[in-house]
Amino acid sequence: MTDPGTGTTFDDPEALRKRALAALLTARERTALLTSCVEDPELTAQHSPLMSPLVWDLAHIGNQEELWLLRTVAGRDALRPDIDGLYDAFEHPRAERPSLPLLPPAEARNYAAEVRGRALDILESTAFEGTGARLTEAGFAFGMIAQHEQQHDETMLITHQLRRGPVALTAPDPMPVPAFTGPAEVLVPGGPFTMGTSTEPWALDNERPAHARLVPPFFIDTTPVTNEAYQAFIADGGYTDRRWWAPEGWAHIREHSIDAPLFWRRDGGQWLRRRFGATEVVPADEPVLHVSWYEADAYARWAGRRLPSEAEWEKAARHDPETGRSTRYPWGDADPTPEHANLGQRHLRPAPAGSYPAGQSPLGVRQLIGDVWEWTSSELLPYPGFHAFPYKEYSEVFFGSEHKVLRGGSFAVDAVACRGTFRNWDYPVRRQIFSGFRTARDARPDSV
Ligand SMILES: [Fe+2]
Repeated sequence: MTDPGTGTTFDDPEALRKRALAALLTARERTALLTSCVEDPELTAQHSPLMSPLVWDLAHIGNQEELWLLRTVAGRDALRPDIDGLYDAFEHPRAERPSLPLLPPAEARNYAAEVRGRALDILESTAFEGTGARLTEAGFAFGMIAQHEQQHDETMLITHQLRRGPVALTAPDPMPVPAFTGPAEVLVPGGPFTMGTSTEPWALDNERPAHARLVPPFFIDTTPVTNEAYQAFIADGGYTDRRWWAPEGWAHIREHSIDAPLFWRRDGGQWLRRRFGATEVVPADEPVLHVSWYEADAYARWAGRRLPSEAEWEKAARHDPETGRSTRYPWGDADPTPEHANLGQRHLRPAPAGSYPAGQSPLGVRQLIGDVWEWTSSELLPYPGFHAFPYKEYSEVFFGSEHKVLRGGSFAVDAVACRGTFRNWDYPVRRQIFSGFRTARDARPDSV
């Protein structure tokens, strides 16, 4: 399968092998940074009941890599069969993990390094085609493990945000941009489009297969909702007016005295926020961050709008009205570069709304990829023809009405774990994640 837009040859095994090696090395560099920017006692402490101790993530990354690459792909014996249970995410919920006899930091580092050394040998010698083994076809297992490590790196960055006290993490701010003056919303024409993928080599089971989806015409915000816009909702009494809230959301904000995004506090006439241990004035032009689905939903209702469905979001991000094709990213099929999107922890914050003109969709929608995860109105459900792979716990056990889908990735997501088809999900009350949103509204069919 050669991608017509980029000439990327997905079935060139050597190109995929290089891609897998680079993805694994990039992930490990980031893991090392995230576990060396605080002292060891900070790695073993639990900073929030919502999160694991950082040292758990570290050894769990190694354990999953051992399980899939060393044992399943290469058929090796277990290096440390005694620790499997400790690092099984389904056996022990996060709140319980600090009380387990976890490997101490030095041992966790050595274990992950030992696994990695062997995994790289296996990467060199594994056939990527012609064996009939679905797990290694196109290097899927290696891509899956690189994505898994990057997802835990994002989780560890969330833990650093929840920690109180300084953290030795630095990154330059995104480039300042002139205030965005384009249209506030974009019309996405009605009609079918191709949702999901059957060709992206490392797409996960829940992104598959590609299928036609009919989406009526709708308008969607050109950029994510900004702090300034969100502050107008607060100033208008948004958190005290029951009309805007789903009943469970209203009960939740009452019970937990929530009256602003997480990490915000009012100081006289202005809003301040805590960001990686430092306090700063909330920047007006950045996409709002750390809001729950209920908050996003309430804002949208207050604004006379609604959240986009997952299919609407993906159509806005991937549908090229000129060719009728769905592309890998809003800008086409090329892999993301720093000109396209704010990804990979290159910055420790979202970029101002309206940034990244080179990354906009054919219809002109900006920042769909990177910056903030975007809540959609949709529950996490399987696509028609879904098959759990390589195991049910990857996605299937999460399907249902409990979780809402988020799309697009945040500044904390690496490119290997981000594409136009990628689906994330969480409980509607969650907001320690790097979550924001944009809004939508129905268009009359005759406006197409
Ligand atoms: Fe995991």
